[in-house]
Amino acid sequence: MDPAQAQRTARDPDGVDEWQRLVAADARGDDKVVEAALRPRRLDELIGQERVREQLGLVLQAALRRGHPPDHILLSGPPGLGKTTIALIVAHELGTPIRVTSGPAIQHAGDLAAILSSLAEGEVLFLDEIHRMARPAEEMLYMAMEDFRVDVVVGKGPGAMAIPLDIPHFTLVGATTRAGLLPGPLRDRFGFTAHLDFYEPAEIELILRRSARLLDVHLTADGGVEIAGRSRGTPRIANRLLRRVRDFAQVRADGVVTAEAAQAALALYEVDQRGLDRLDRAVLGALLDRFGGGPVGLSTLAVAVGEEAETVEEVAEPFLVRAGLLARTPRGRVATAAAWEHLGRTPPADGAGWAALVAAQRAVPPRGQPGWPAQDQLFGPEA
Ligand SMILES: Nc1ncnc2c1ncn2[C@@H]1O[C@H](COP(=O)(O)OP(=O)(O)OP(=O)(O)O)[C@@H](O)[C@H]1O
Ligand SMILES: [Mg+2]
Repeated sequence: MDPAQAQRTARDPDGVDEWQRLVAADARGDDKVVEAALRPRRLDELIGQERVREQLGLVLQAALRRGHPPDHILLSGPPGLGKTTIALIVAHELGTPIRVTSGPAIQHAGDLAAILSSLAEGEVLFLDEIHRMARPAEEMLYMAMEDFRVDVVVGKGPGAMAIPLDIPHFTLVGATTRAGLLPGPLRDRFGFTAHLDFYEPAEIELILRRSARLLDVHLTADGGVEIAGRSRGTPRIANRLLRRVRDFAQVRADGVVTAEAAQAALALYEVDQRGLDRLDRAVLGALLDRFGGGPVGLSTLAVAVGEEAETVEEVAEPFLVRAGLLARTPRGRVATAAAWEHLGRTPPADGAGWAALVAAQRAVPPRGQPGWPAQDQLFGPEA
């Protein structure tokens, strides 16, 4: 396969991603099909997220012992870390059916009333992207969660009547990538909230090993290390990279996923050692080469990359910030020492960027201290 053709195959089939992001955290292309086969089905198959696993295990076991549905469960965290997986596990562990819907699918309170009133006793209702539900439905959900009752409005105008309707005891499992966008009253009605965090490379290695076994791929230990390092702490990305490296190993080598195969394949797909792709490196490269490492304003930086400011801010920056390569300071974007090193450039001795960075770092409390992570300082206020 020539590189140009490999590029085309790497292209996002939805055709919206001209950067062909193999490291996108959201599900795309063939992910949805493969993921169903790779999802852990039981709590003890779930890798990493120790605390969540233990706490959730207690919640579920206690409920089973009482013979009563557990409290409502909220799962929050960035895409691809296992929210849907855990929702399915909850139903599986409880031995109950699960109904799956999502915020955007519920545009009217009536949509929700129809779902709620058709649930079976004890059923799990999985509401994905719960922060995108319509407001009137949200209010209906408050009452349903608390009192297992909804008011169905019949008729219109002055003659309209609210008829109370009892609904079965169900367990709501809500998932959101933007917990900050959930109104307080909704958040408060969840008895258990789990926040999923990025995985350590060693955990990603275990996930890769498990996936390789299920996909019948021969993955060597060093191959696992190599892919894990480029997976951005995200199981979904790890599984996707594994499949691309497997393809490469099958076509160009003996099918074994070694470190060598991973390096060659991911060089072809332009995913580097730290999991940065072309867009990430374009942003970082422009920051270093055109602006001496910053500080530079977002829109100026975006123009230099030939991208929308939004794309730079929402698609590239969160990972660059998390990886400690870029900082958002009040005076603009600044490259860190690690960024210069990662791109193999020498930082200017007296870059103005350093002063801005040092000032900004002083303003952020140290890791683990109150106020950290200062979400809006790191990522900009959640819109
Ligand atoms: N702890 C884990 N152990 C093993 N595999 C995992 C784990 N977490 C996630 N995965 C894998 O990653 C894939 C993506 O996970 P999942 O779909 O649950 O993410 P999500 O948080 O729901 O993402 P989104 O926000 O896009 O809906 C799953 O198919 C699963 O195979
Ligand atoms: Mg999901």
